[in-house]
Amino acid sequence: MIKLSPSILSADFAKLAEEVRCVEQAGADMLHIDVMDGHFVPNITIGPAVVGALRPGSGLLFDVHLMITHPLDYIDAFADAGADLITFHVESASDPVRTIEKIRCRGILPAISLSPDTPVEAVVPYLPLVRMVLVMTVYPGFGGQKFIEPMLEKVSALRACSDAQGLALDIQVDGGIDCATAPAAAAAGANVLVAGSAVFGKADRAEALRRIREAAAG
Ligand code: DX5
Ligand code: ZN
Repeated sequence: MIKLSPSILSADFAKLAEEVRCVEQAGADMLHIDVMDGHFVPNITIGPAVVGALRPGSGLLFDVHLMITHPLDYIDAFADAGADLITFHVESASDPVRTIEKIRCRGILPAISLSPDTPVEAVVPYLPLVRMVLVMTVYPGFGGQKFIEPMLEKVSALRACSDAQGLALDIQVDGGIDCATAPAAAAAGANVLVAGSAVFGKADRAEALRRIREAAAG
């Protein structure tokens, strides 16, 4: 079963709550919230206050993608704000095991991500500890970039690892996902697809989600 997580990075920030309601009604499975600190990546987006402001208006699973240098220091803030799932980067400065433990002890699902230049081996030791792995299919920092197809080899390798260890991991792909790229991502073993511009860039979000879902189903 494919799950779709629209990224609010491409939403209209002037009416964010309305945009979130719109994709929730349009059939999104979760809501991808990109947090950037201007240090781990060259862009700055939103923090826990915005997550907390959106929380009462939405029943969607809040999928918080931390692209920040010290994720461990901010787990409590995002937990208090209402995150349901927190993804941090293996390239960050925080110790992965401690970060995963901290996320778990706040009752949140932990996920680990790897950027395009990072090999799968970097996350393999943590697979039994997390619920999901996020394979970046663009360099983190901005929406609307071109999908990097060779990243799908990492998806296949991680799916094989998950199967071999009986982990049933969710594997998420993020960056450049649309109707054209979703089929290959799903075929490689991804089951959670993030899409920013391919959803929020369209006038009809329900149709956009339906088309990506159908494309991924093959
Ligand atoms: C990029 C972010 C993505 C981004 C995806 O650093 O992590 O979630 O919003 O945007 P699209 O789908 O437009 O590539
Ligand atoms: Zn993201």
